[in-house]
Amino acid sequence: MKLLVIGSGGREHAIAWCLARTRGLQKIYVAPGNAGTCMERELENLPITDPNELAEFAAANKIHLTIVGPEAPLAAGIVDIFRARGLRIFGPTKAAAQLESSKDFAKRFMARHNIPTAAFETFTDAQSAHAYVDKQGAPIVIKADGLAAGKGVVVAQTLKEAHAAIDAMLGGDTPGARIVIEEFLDGEEASFIVMVDGKNVLALASSQDHKRIGDGDTGPNTGGMGAYSPAPVVTPSIHAKIMREVINPTVKGMALEGNPYVGFLYAGLMIGKDGSVKTLEFNCRMGDPEAQPILMRLKTDFLKLLDHAVSGKLDKVEAEWDLNVALGVVLASAKYPGEPRTGNIIKGIPPYNSFGDDAHLFHAGTALNKTGKTVTSGGRVLCVTTLAVNVRAAQKRAYEIIENISFTGMQFRRDIGNRAINRKP
Ligand code: AMP
Ligand code: GLY
Repeated sequence: MKLLVIGSGGREHAIAWCLARTRGLQKIYVAPGNAGTCMERELENLPITDPNELAEFAAANKIHLTIVGPEAPLAAGIVDIFRARGLRIFGPTKAAAQLESSKDFAKRFMARHNIPTAAFETFTDAQSAHAYVDKQGAPIVIKADGLAAGKGVVVAQTLKEAHAAIDAMLGGDTPGARIVIEEFLDGEEASFIVMVDGKNVLALASSQDHKRIGDGDTGPNTGGMGAYSPAPVVTPSIHAKIMREVINPTVKGMALEGNPYVGFLYAGLMIGKDGSVKTLEFNCRMGDPEAQPILMRLKTDFLKLLDHAVSGKLDKVEAEWDLNVALGVVLASAKYPGEPRTGNIIKGIPPYNSFGDDAHLFHAGTALNKTGKTVTSGGRVLCVTTLAVNVRAAQKRAYEIIENISFTGMQFRRDIGNRAINRKP
């Protein structure tokens, strides 16, 4: 049996690695993959990114199932293309992927279905947006409407920052630009990712990301600098509340509106001190880097879950999780989240699978150069992911591994997991 994983990031490396643990698979293609996926024995990189060519490949090679990692091909309609040819693929259609690809769509959807979220207004005109923030005051949050790899959001602490963000997103030569301005929410964030088959939901283990580039949650937002699973803030009662107030109404609402949702659904949540749950955003995919620690804890056969999801039978399966904590630290290129410096040789990458079962080096922005050396090729480069009895032990092991890895300009946070470690019982 052959599988196809689409994408080239750490999340896709983790998805393919997790699937490779399933016995009986002949091959897992990763398109286009990275230097890490081509290092794994069971995986093979496929240098194709065009959705029609990928569908052609899947048909010609009798691919059992295709799993889409990132949002861009989903928003471009890859699932519609595969389905039109009768090919099995796990992910939302282009119409359903609007939950992520348009913040305006997501916010209006949440309003229609009473899903808790921050109060908001949408603007296409800078002057009205400036007037609105003056009326609301700071802190306030300004979001570009389209996909922006987690970098289109400005949490403005002052009115000056808010006005500058509006000018950057709506001013100048940006025809058709649209922004959402929303109420600032205080609390602790959690990532809640589920699998959906159009009707039934299977919740994956909870996790927490670290969005800002700098220690202590400082500096600009990134795609995510590290994550761990489980997130202690998601207690059993908060879990039940998230399912009741956010996930179930979303899945039901999409089906009711004739836009059924199939795929991973990721709710970015703000959990208030009072136990309130508000939705910051939806993503139509697993999180990156959340997928790395989550999948490290998955004990059930991942393919079995995916097969049930594509067949509309998620109610017939359960997921079992390792009771240990998994934690991933992202190593990023110089200047990330700005335009990153690439082409630097990465030193200290150990041979395949040298850590055993309790750590793995997931690649993201890596490539092989002409002489076969692994070099940086993107903003987020590697994610060192570990599994241990508690957050402190997983953190210690991850930073020990990082001591041996280096490339020019390498940046990483030194406090991944501290929020869980410092949490009062
Ligand atoms: P988003 O892409 O909408 O998840 O926003 C990226 C990050 O910005 C979130 O993970 C939060 O850290 C922050 N953020 C977004 N919306 C809000 C909000 N309404 N209040 C406070 N922080 C927010
Ligand atoms: N780590 C956040 C995301 O994947 O959107």
